[in-house]
Amino acid sequence: MFLVTGATGNVGAEVVSALAGAGEPVRALVRRPDVALPPGAEAVVGDLNDPGSLGDALKGVEGIFLLSGYDDMPGMLARAREADVRRIVLLSGGSAALADMDNAVSAYMTLAERAVRESGLDWTFLRPRAFMSNALRWLPQLREGDTVRAQFPEVVVACVDPADIAAVAARALAGGHEGRVYDLTGPVALRPAEQVAVLGEVLGRELEFVGLSDAETRAELEASMPREYVEAFWDFYVVGTLDEATVHQDVPEVTGRPARTFREWASAHADAFR
Ligand SMILES: NC(=O)c1ccc[n+]([C@@H]2O[C@H](COP(=O)([O-])OP(=O)(O)OC[C@H]3O[C@@H](n4cnc5c(N)ncnc54)[C@H](OP(=O)(O)O)[C@@H]3O)[C@@H](O)[C@H]2O)c1
Repeated sequence: MFLVTGATGNVGAEVVSALAGAGEPVRALVRRPDVALPPGAEAVVGDLNDPGSLGDALKGVEGIFLLSGYDDMPGMLARAREADVRRIVLLSGGSAALADMDNAVSAYMTLAERAVRESGLDWTFLRPRAFMSNALRWLPQLREGDTVRAQFPEVVVACVDPADIAAVAARALAGGHEGRVYDLTGPVALRPAEQVAVLGEVLGRELEFVGLSDAETRAELEASMPREYVEAFWDFYVVGTLDEATVHQDVPEVTGRPARTFREWASAHADAFR
């Protein structure tokens, strides 16, 4: 049995689908029992911020697909070990490599990796770069009209399809990838304007791209997230501490097929934009 956390999210839902599609038994950790899950998963209620709530979820589990950044990761991992879980496949991110404890995003990913390394469980770390699904943040604008105003317009990112992260996760959960750190990217690096152009072609719409200035980007970020995260993303994308442009080969090497393109992601999710 595999336990998938974040099963209602962009990556977790794809992990559930990948495992269920391969005929593996899958349990999805959810915070509310009535949420929609991909077919094939049994739901179990629990909260990652409350390790005591995970008793039922951990029973009979061989491996966990685990998200980073929760309150007591060492405590939660201790419970997993007590429950005879063997392996953790942790979703962190590229900024874990920076181990920058002054950057809130890098810090939570670094701490999560550290807790897993120290847990005594087998582990595989997945460090994806920005997700292709971040384009869903443009949905409200696309419902209003044909102009997409995007943050950090000059930042080039080898964005990755969550389905590829999930494909790697499913293989790692099956074993044989212990102690490996995978840098997960798409096949090419794109600017936001290039993503919007592809999206327009896929949707059959003439989309106009407008890059936000640094000041506009900061104002938008400040309206949507706590200050420490604003500073973290500023550090990554304006100061330039995080390289998300380099294309890595870990997706094709682990899955045995090419990493999915942004066009493939957009085509698969076109209905969400209509
Ligand atoms: N977006 C990027 O570009 C990017 C890049 C690198 C790494 N990452 C990392 O990837 C992670 C997952 O991204 P995503 O897009 O798949 O996330 P997402 O779509 O926002 O989903 C988050 C998932 O976590 C669950 N969750 C939140 N708090 C929880 C808690 N206390 N206990 C149990 N479950 C909880 C949510 O469940 P509910 O349905 O109950 O809310 C949801 O299923 C991010 O959090 C980030 O750390 C993201």
